Amino acid sequence: MRASAPGKLIVLGEHSVVYGHRAIAASVSRRTTVDLTASPGPTRLADSDIVDDRLLRALRATLPAEGWAVSIRTDLPVGRGMGSSASLSIALLRLRARFEGIEPDFAWLHAEGFALERIFHGDPSGIDHAVSALEGAVVYQRGEAPQPLAMTPMKVVVLDSGSAGNTAELVAGVAARRPGIEPALDRLGELVELAIGSLDDPLALGEAMDEAHALLVQIGVSTPILDDLVALARDHGATGAKLSGAGGGGVVMALCPDGGIELLRAAEARGIPAFLCTLPCGASED
Ligand code: MEV
Repeated sequence: MRASAPGKLIVLGEHSVVYGHRAIAASVSRRTTVDLTASPGPTRLADSDIVDDRLLRALRATLPAEGWAVSIRTDLPVGRGMGSSASLSIALLRLRARFEGIEPDFAWLHAEGFALERIFHGDPSGIDHAVSALEGAVVYQRGEAPQPLAMTPMKVVVLDSGSAGNTAELVAGVAARRPGIEPALDRLGELVELAIGSLDDPLALGEAMDEAHALLVQIGVSTPILDDLVALARDHGATGAKLSGAGGGGVVMALCPDGGIELLRAAEARGIPAFLCTLPCGASED
């Protein structure tokens, strides 16, 4: 038995989405796949080298207690703000739906996904698993049904900082810095509203991404390495670049309408893991 779900990139609006502003996010072609093989005894991880208490709790919350070996594969960078936990949560829920004989529509996946995402991230807005369940590009507002967003496919280069950020801690850190950073959070929300009308314009969108990164620096979620990656992207042909996801590590996304060859070469020369992505990815391959 197999199920899979994609990761995501937040184009604009991370952190401000926690406070009720809208955000734009899109799924990527990289996915997490969960395979179940019948196996006597308690349900267990087939790959015994994975030891993460949160992962084991998520398995216990979704799969039968007995009878299965669970194999998890992902081509997403893990813990880098690209929704690896959300994609795992949605894949597990699709399997759970099969055991329970129900059709996992979006409303069910999103509602049940919160319980799993809380295991991984404390108090998430729900954007990561909404995008993973829906696939495509969405405008997301906490507490509302996500709106699918028509978006001409855009090319982005993803640059990996090489370290993970802890989403729960970063979200808590932003909460602790309020109300002083409220104007920055409001402006992040405004950038989303402005960008919704200019997603087809790589210069305007790039400018919005640059400003968003500066605001994310202001609210305290960037790092010197992420700032360097943003500068590298701008020096090598990106029309804009920003951290994507919770920050504190994770990835930078750089908008590269020319295909990003120059930036990919510059990253390779410096030993920075990088790859090209088209946003949003296609429909579900399940
Ligand atoms: C994490 O991908 C995005 C954040 O805005 C947290 C959330 O929305 O749950 C940082």
